[in-house]
Amino acid sequence: MASRYTSYLTIERLGTAVGQEVTLNGWVYDTTGKGKLQFVKLRDGSGICQCVAFKPNLPEEVFENIRSLTQESSVSITGTVREEPRAPGGYELDITGVKIHQIASDYPITPKEHGIEFLMEHRHLWLRSARQHAIMRIRSAVVKAIRDFFDGNGFRLMDSPILTPNACEGTSTLFETEYFDLGKAYLSQSGQLYAEATAMALGRVYTFGPTFRAEKSKTRRHLTEFWMVEPEMAYFDLNDDMDLAEDLVEYIVQYCLKTCQQELATLGRDISKLEKVRRPFHRMSYSEAVEWLNKNNVKLIKKNADGTESQTDFPWGEDFGAPQEEAIMEQFDKPCIIHRYPAEVKAFYMKRDPENMKVALAMDMLAPEGAGEIIGGSQREDNYDVLLERVHHENLPEEAFQWYLDLRKFGSVPHSGFGLGVERTVKWISGAEHIREVIPFPRMIYRIVP
Ligand code: 4AD
Ligand code: MG
Repeated sequence: MASRYTSYLTIERLGTAVGQEVTLNGWVYDTTGKGKLQFVKLRDGSGICQCVAFKPNLPEEVFENIRSLTQESSVSITGTVREEPRAPGGYELDITGVKIHQIASDYPITPKEHGIEFLMEHRHLWLRSARQHAIMRIRSAVVKAIRDFFDGNGFRLMDSPILTPNACEGTSTLFETEYFDLGKAYLSQSGQLYAEATAMALGRVYTFGPTFRAEKSKTRRHLTEFWMVEPEMAYFDLNDDMDLAEDLVEYIVQYCLKTCQQELATLGRDISKLEKVRRPFHRMSYSEAVEWLNKNNVKLIKKNADGTESQTDFPWGEDFGAPQEEAIMEQFDKPCIIHRYPAEVKAFYMKRDPENMKVALAMDMLAPEGAGEIIGGSQREDNYDVLLERVHHENLPEEAFQWYLDLRKFGSVPHSGFGLGVERTVKWISGAEHIREVIPFPRMIYRIVP
């Protein structure tokens, strides 16, 4: 027997059945009609199709059933597929029969405007709306593009653990939990350290999973649980790392342009901006970026204790915040990599630049249109003594990092990697205002439900 997977036709494949009688399984998105004509917009997850009931052609009961349909009722509608260039997907269905699975009453999300808190409370239903539906399909395409890119370029997927005994990206933003008799465990902030170990076994790997940051940030770019893909490559230096990051991002954006035209149109996204995302991207060192900020009078604004504000030139050594990143990106219509940040503001595992020990061989990729940082990465410290000194300097527990230090004892090699935030990337490509819209069930400081 054919499985339902192959046997039932979805709306996105209606073009294969023009002139035929088919059955669509879905939910009622909207209904209109008067007199002898009823229109049902049916959605099935793959698309929306307008179904038309014409009273004189139908048994009384079928027409009445169609008239009784309400928003989000579940139905199977049978009818003949007709080409209709003016219809949303290009086809309409002339109804011949209907099977009602359930009549939904008082669906809470109506076509009128709702406040964001209400929508977030109803996230489990909000996902059905056209805009959310389009964003989720873009998210799925971004993940597929990422996996295709790495799988097609000689990388192996190596999952890192989520329960970890120690911090990776600094101790201040860890979620902790009790772990039996072994003390505290922490939800992973990054799979990188384990990716380094698997890269020494498999050469080129990527780890792809959820990561957790107990950050108190309430910005439009921060989640407490987000997905990150982290490639790690043996024998790659910082330049190789930046080249790979550019290739990956170009591939993702171009893949979405190719496969998500309809979704991008639903969102009203200006795709001419995305079309420009072609290599080479822009690159500048942190020092050049500081010079640029000061030459262009982009002041560092600081709040004083008495509530007043003071403005200064941007001092070398301070980390960039959103205002600096936005100012730098205003001049660019494709991403820019900023490299060689002050070592003091970056993570303990980053290698210092042998040509200037004050800077780390680090890089961040900033995306245009106010999207901000989508990638953070670096060449890793590969010298045992230097890394051990960094562990001590940051007051990290040496014991917990013994296995990580081992990688520098047994066949240490130059190696590099980076992390790309899936939600930051989807937010940029879809043009969503807020990161909470680009993950099915966002986790933020003030939200864990639904
Ligand atoms: O810059 P981050 O913290 O780098 C790391 O975690 C490294 N261990 C990665 C590596 O080298 N393997 O995070 C990487 C990316 C950021 O550029 C951003 O896209 C995303 O992860 N990200 C967040 N996304 C959503 N919410 C948050 N709170 C995020 N924090 C980081
Ligand atoms: Mg970062």
